[in-house]
Amino acid sequence: MTAARFQNPVFVALDTPDLSKARELARLVRGAAGGLKVGLEFITAQGPSGIREIAAFGLPLFVDVKFHDIPNTVAGASRELVKLGAKLFNIHVSGGEAMMRASVEAARAVDPDVKVIGVTVLTSLEDRDLESVGQRSPAQDQVVRLAKLAKHSGLDGVVCSPREIAPVRAACGPDFLIVTPGVRPKGADLADQRRVMTPGEAARAGADIVVIGRPITMAPDPAAAARAIAAEIAQLA
Ligand code: C5P
Repeated sequence: MTAARFQNPVFVALDTPDLSKARELARLVRGAAGGLKVGLEFITAQGPSGIREIAAFGLPLFVDVKFHDIPNTVAGASRELVKLGAKLFNIHVSGGEAMMRASVEAARAVDPDVKVIGVTVLTSLEDRDLESVGQRSPAQDQVVRLAKLAKHSGLDGVVCSPREIAPVRAACGPDFLIVTPGVRPKGADLADQRRVMTPGEAARAGADIVVIGRPITMAPDPAAAARAIAAEIAQLA
């Protein structure tokens, strides 16, 4: 962990389209998590009022919205998203420098503390998929290239998989936020995650925020599961 930016770096992914389920999970983990995350499924089902409601729980809300459009459109969308209460949100770095700068400027005008995070290469893409869309492989080199561009364009950090934490940290320095999904406590069900690290390994490698869904949301006691993960990371501080 590079800096104590987030006292509790565990963000819980509320991966559901259902408002009452999201609300219940948010209530359960409120005292144990460092933040909450909603993604496209929830956003599409519940819209602005759903985002506003989850933001009102008082934990920093990461809206995993992955904007990618022309600068003017992304600037407008970023402004509206921050008005709903997002404290972190993400945009595709491949949208280019002008798009990133426009997003950051519009978002900060609403909330100077909001964090804008870049999506580099989706982990679902293999090297041959990158080549088929005209991007250079291997994926890890492309991730580092895009992370540097994100930093140059004023973004606060990037989302990256556990195996990319160390190269991104090395390339982008200690003040660049690294947000990492694909984290699994020892002995947890991997579900569909493949290249996982434990929370402690991810923190040691340099992650600032770990985004964790099922190991917390499916646990019999989600708050206890979140607390155990935060404690494992805090031991390293
Ligand atoms: O349940 P689990 O811990 O696997 O959830 C991880 C969260 O992080 C999900 O919201 C998922 O969409 C997100 N994510 C991911 N892998 C990526 C990018 C995002 O698992 N490469």
